[in-house]
Amino acid sequence: MRGRNGWLVTGAVAALALGAMPAPAQTVKVGMVSTFSGLNANIGEYMERGMRLYMKLHEKDLPPGVKIELIVRDDNGANPERAKQVAQDLIVKEKVQLLTGVIFTPNALAIAPLTIEAKIPFVISNAGTSMITTRSPYIARLSFTLWQSSYPFGQWAAKKYKRAYTMVSDYAPGHDAEDAFSKSFKEGGGEIVNSVRVPLTDPDFAAYMQRVKDSKPDALFVFVPAGKTATSVMKGFADLGLKDAGVKLIGPGDITPDEELPNMGDVALGVVTAFHYSAAADRPANKAFVAAWKKEYGAKETPDFVSVGAWDSMDAIYYVIREQKGKIDPDKTMELLKQYKNPNSPRGPISIDPETRDIVQNEYLREVRRVNGELANVEIETIGTAVKDPWKEFNKKK
Ligand code: PHB
Repeated sequence: MRGRNGWLVTGAVAALALGAMPAPAQTVKVGMVSTFSGLNANIGEYMERGMRLYMKLHEKDLPPGVKIELIVRDDNGANPERAKQVAQDLIVKEKVQLLTGVIFTPNALAIAPLTIEAKIPFVISNAGTSMITTRSPYIARLSFTLWQSSYPFGQWAAKKYKRAYTMVSDYAPGHDAEDAFSKSFKEGGGEIVNSVRVPLTDPDFAAYMQRVKDSKPDALFVFVPAGKTATSVMKGFADLGLKDAGVKLIGPGDITPDEELPNMGDVALGVVTAFHYSAAADRPANKAFVAAWKKEYGAKETPDFVSVGAWDSMDAIYYVIREQKGKIDPDKTMELLKQYKNPNSPRGPISIDPETRDIVQNEYLREVRRVNGELANVEIETIGTAVKDPWKEFNKKK
């Protein structure tokens, strides 16, 4: 013992003399809430993988002596009670200093009041209903809004199609997608022939698709949450023969998630969507991201928009940790998040609008095509540059 103590003292004194004392180890605890069971249980893994890959590749970018611990909890799908409970547990028991993640809007809304009570900055990496960020000054969103894709998409679609039918999951982001697309499609001279809202869980798509077929629209605009639900839409569309009947399937990119394309088959070919991210994009930052993903998780694995939302959320979290040298002050963190920018995200240039704490990004028009034998969301043109959430722009207090 004496020998050991003696050595430690000597070592410390020597290090002091050299001015080389290592900074005391400090761990920033980050709580991530995501979906690993229940509705679209497969999406959570794309989020967690995106965060963990970023952490692995950027460990060296943290200040000396600072570490991050990511503590992950399952919210069991669109389940606000459970989401609130796990977020509370992360705050009270685990003492996390930051929250991130969340696939589903109702869950993000259930967590919002906790972030005010506990003053915990919450970096949202998916949930896409516009008003979420208005529910707490401690929320910043690094993902997207449905208005951001569907409003410019309606403008584009009005130049191609006369009559559109809309079909959305009957919950907040579905209502946003329907409102945004219908507004700009009608402003552009198009006609909405019918708007149907389908249950979030297990809708009978065959029955809904038959009604669409009977009303013979030029285009069917659909929003459902990404994951397996998107593949069910594609199956219903194929089984009822809508493609052969000449109906064009369109929507935000949630209906053609990159990782689900292999499960959708040829019916997905030609589906046109608007979105902020495609794994097939040829931006160098995206090529590097996809290559890193395949190296880490396997050559057949593909990241998707949830993965890139997670990657960019972690980049923003690293930035606030670096700027504060590992000591997280909630209000200072929010000021920093309002200034966050990355000209080189895999999705292109992104920034946070300091007025709304929502993301500003490009929107791309994409078409599902076969590339090297695999289905891919090929970006065709940029239909919106540095798009701010249109819903907030329309609802600005005058
Ligand atoms: C949401 O609930 O906000 C949500 C979920 C899945 C998506 C998009 C939005 O693909």
